[in-house]
Amino acid sequence: MDKINSFSEYQEQYKKSVDNPDAFWSEQASTFLWKKKWDRVLDWEFKTPSVNWFINGKLNITENCLDRHLDTKADKTAIIWEPNNPDEKHKEITYKELHEKVCRFSNVLKANGAKKGDRICLYMPMVPELAIATLACARIGAIHSVVFAGFSAKALSDRINDADCNILVTSDGLYRGKKQMCLKDIVDDALQTCPTINSCIVLQRTGQQITMKDGRDSWWHEEDELVNSICDAEIMDSEDPLFVLYTSGSTGKPKGVQHHCGGYMVYAEYSFRNVFQYNEDDVYWCTADIGWITGHTYIVYGPLLAGSTTIMFEGVPTYPDAGRFWEVCEKFKVNLFYTAPTAIRALQVYGTEFIDKYDLSSLKTLGSVGEPINEEAWDWYYKNIGKENCWIVDTWWQTETGGIMISPLAHITKMKPTFAALPLPGIQPCLVDPDGKEILGNDVQGNLCIKYPWPSMIRTTYGDHERCKQVYFSTYPGMYFTGDGCRRDEDGFYRITGRVDDVINVSGHRMGTAEVENGINEHSRVVESAVVGFPHEIKGQGIYAYVILEDINAASDNLRKEILSTITKEIGPIAKPDKIQFVSGLPKTRSGKIMRRILRKVAEGDTSSLGDTSTLLDPSIVAEIIEGKV
Ligand code: PRX
Repeated sequence: MDKINSFSEYQEQYKKSVDNPDAFWSEQASTFLWKKKWDRVLDWEFKTPSVNWFINGKLNITENCLDRHLDTKADKTAIIWEPNNPDEKHKEITYKELHEKVCRFSNVLKANGAKKGDRICLYMPMVPELAIATLACARIGAIHSVVFAGFSAKALSDRINDADCNILVTSDGLYRGKKQMCLKDIVDDALQTCPTINSCIVLQRTGQQITMKDGRDSWWHEEDELVNSICDAEIMDSEDPLFVLYTSGSTGKPKGVQHHCGGYMVYAEYSFRNVFQYNEDDVYWCTADIGWITGHTYIVYGPLLAGSTTIMFEGVPTYPDAGRFWEVCEKFKVNLFYTAPTAIRALQVYGTEFIDKYDLSSLKTLGSVGEPINEEAWDWYYKNIGKENCWIVDTWWQTETGGIMISPLAHITKMKPTFAALPLPGIQPCLVDPDGKEILGNDVQGNLCIKYPWPSMIRTTYGDHERCKQVYFSTYPGMYFTGDGCRRDEDGFYRITGRVDDVINVSGHRMGTAEVENGINEHSRVVESAVVGFPHEIKGQGIYAYVILEDINAASDNLRKEILSTITKEIGPIAKPDKIQFVSGLPKTRSGKIMRRILRKVAEGDTSSLGDTSTLLDPSIVAEIIEGKV
């Protein structure tokens, strides 16, 4: 696959992708290994919605990630794995070895009864076996559902049950910074309410004591001894599902965003090569976890499709100290580095002494993803990490978009701090006003929609197509609605301003306020709660919870702690509110709707302009809430 080499070429390609999308995508797709070529490039309508790419094309994504590289890159390192503890030895896995390991684990899955179309849940630490298991599912045509290993037993069981998974792959425990956690205990708890799981395959990572259930649990290493390394890839239709990944929305439970084989494959490699301007032999490191979409597309699929060397990191940025990222960059001479603003802000606090110890001269491109990057963090990243020599790519996209949508192309698109810049070829963003009318021209602001399909877009929400339609395609008929607000400046550059729905972005993780409220309400003494986001120096947004108790006299710090442990149990530690305020009521309109605008203002500490409160059922509650805050 070629990549764009100059800004004028970008403009040409962009124009071509809009004037003749079929020809444009046909050209990109033809660089892959297809078992059978597609009949037509695209059929679509956004009402149902129904989107089909590379119709009747047959392929297997793992042949494109692995087999097709074996002639020329068999001995090239595919994955470098850096463990949590720097004293433990890192691992390097070549394309040939990765191919063999994936085939072996594919056979393990088959031996456990897995077949095409099954859903397999992966709940694992950031170890190479997670990437191997992901690819093994894809090789046999099973749909992987990776659940971040920080989620609670309840959250894991909800996700397993929503997708009716029949196999779970996990590990005994995991290391994260100073902590060691017993994953298998969480799994055992979750599986009590997961009747569809027949097999649980357990990787030995920490060697800690766990219990294995007869007839259900088996060890990865023992299963591995029983199989060989030959596994033909299942032939998949371009529109067969590849994976489901759960993400939060403004209402209800997290939904399983579903991505399909052909389109996702084409866009994962296309966007990886172009945004990062990947060159053969570049060493690439994305610090995300494979439990999130960034890890799926830009640790596993994109980089492996491109035949690059991708680093997987098990640890955290501040362990054993705040120099860890830079130590790893020096150690492996990383060229392309991709992380989140929250990590940058967290490291910024430690000053530059942890950076100055390391040689970062290999770095060429620095990526940012997951939330708006504030100007201060952008400057710090640019000066201290990039030494004013690297390109910063602020990449905007979502679980639902599958790949990067709006971003500078490294060393090509002009950089403007805090701007995600311009859409990739094939991506047609537009801004709309509250009536759904497109806002044309520049120097404007509105809600961000996409008006034409792109290959890696969401096809459905697992088991509930109506929900997909309602959430993404109904607000503005005929368009995909992102849930984000956005400004287009006088140069036509896009700046994402944040969510316009009831979703908060905490350290780059999406949290539905309703989901957190439901978790808090599980505490027996809680009657009702309302959750809003507020600006947080490191996390971007923090979680502020207003809680009504059965008996307000029971309010205490102890109860706050209990509520935090309830939410940890219901969702996981990432959903813990930063602040809990006990209140006797919530500002509701006569129709019973909570006026979150007011709660947001109070949480932000800005009570000077609360706007019109005359429609509130009980306006006096506002004063009480403000007072309680002081
Ligand atoms: O609000 C946007 C924000 O993250 C949301 C998507 O979250 P998720 O599906 O978890 O995917 C995160 C990683 C792709 C978006 O709706 N977001 C993501 N990237 C940016 C961003 N906001 C501003 N700038 C970005 N570069």
